[in-house]
Amino acid sequence: MNDFAAWAAAVAQRTKTALEQALPQGRPSERLHQAMRYAALGGGKRMRQLLAHAAGELAGADPAAVDAAACALEMIHAYSLVHDDLPCMDDDDLRRGRPTAHKAFDEATALLAGDALQPLAFALLSADALALPDAVKLALVRELAQASGSLGMAGGQAIDLESVGKRISLDALEAMHRLKTGALLRAALRMGLLCGAGKTLLGADALDAYGAAVGLAFQVVDDVLDATTSTEVLGKTAGKDGADNKPTYVTLLGLEAAQALAEDLRRQAHAALDALRDAGDVSRLRSLADKIVMRGN
Ligand code: IPE
Ligand code: IPE
Ligand code: MG
Ligand code: MG
Ligand code: MG
Repeated sequence: MNDFAAWAAAVAQRTKTALEQALPQGRPSERLHQAMRYAALGGGKRMRQLLAHAAGELAGADPAAVDAAACALEMIHAYSLVHDDLPCMDDDDLRRGRPTAHKAFDEATALLAGDALQPLAFALLSADALALPDAVKLALVRELAQASGSLGMAGGQAIDLESVGKRISLDALEAMHRLKTGALLRAALRMGLLCGAGKTLLGADALDAYGAAVGLAFQVVDDVLDATTSTEVLGKTAGKDGADNKPTYVTLLGLEAAQALAEDLRRQAHAALDALRDAGDVSRLRSLADKIVMRGN
């Protein structure tokens, strides 16, 4: 295992441990708590956590503080996936190689699990136990709230659903992808940086430009994988965008141009990191841009 792979495995492991502790179980509703744990502990690539820890390392943040940000990000992400899979949205049966939450439980429980994961994220960021100055906790809450609300993920999801069966412009598609997926990935980096608790980082703007590039690239590649990769490898139903008549980079640009765009965004992300070199070791962020664009699932 190379250094990056070992580091990524360690981040995934510590995220799992932190989530296991942060997610409640038992009463008052054991079933609801089970559904929340099912959604958030079901694996996944943990991309937002890798980005948060890589940025946190650059900012000299305490890894334990970044764990809290990483858990909060996963709670929002997991809730967004549970709701995305519901019959009223994408109506999917398979997620992370297992039945979706509403299949494993029921629709009402899945809806509530998402509802409950969301405030838990903010409770974690504002907890007394989190050893960060109050002003930093507030900034973390604000960052995550903006990235997940109607001006971020939820807004992008609304545009996604409004666009079914329509031929939207490339600009509109880009705006939708930046919101529904890019916003949270970008926030992961900004939150990792915030955990450095006020240590000024040279080139925070460059890191944000990197975040914008990898955030968009992530959804371009998600669109490409939907059209090119098997259900077994994806762990979610392949070909779903086409079947649902969703506008994607593949349907608007064609497969090759979509792949070329992802590659171009990878180059943009690397270029943004060049401006960050004086801030510290950016090799993990470089590898993360590669992983986001060249991943197989
Ligand atoms: C899937 O996200 C939904 C999108 C935002 C494209 P991921 O591909 O990060 O899902 P997991 O967490 O690895 O399962
Ligand atoms: C969902 O995008 C993005 C979210 C905010 C959950 P998709 O609908 O393309 O995600 P998948 O392909 O189901 O994972
Ligand atoms: Mg969707
Ligand atoms: Mg979906
Ligand atoms: Mg998709």
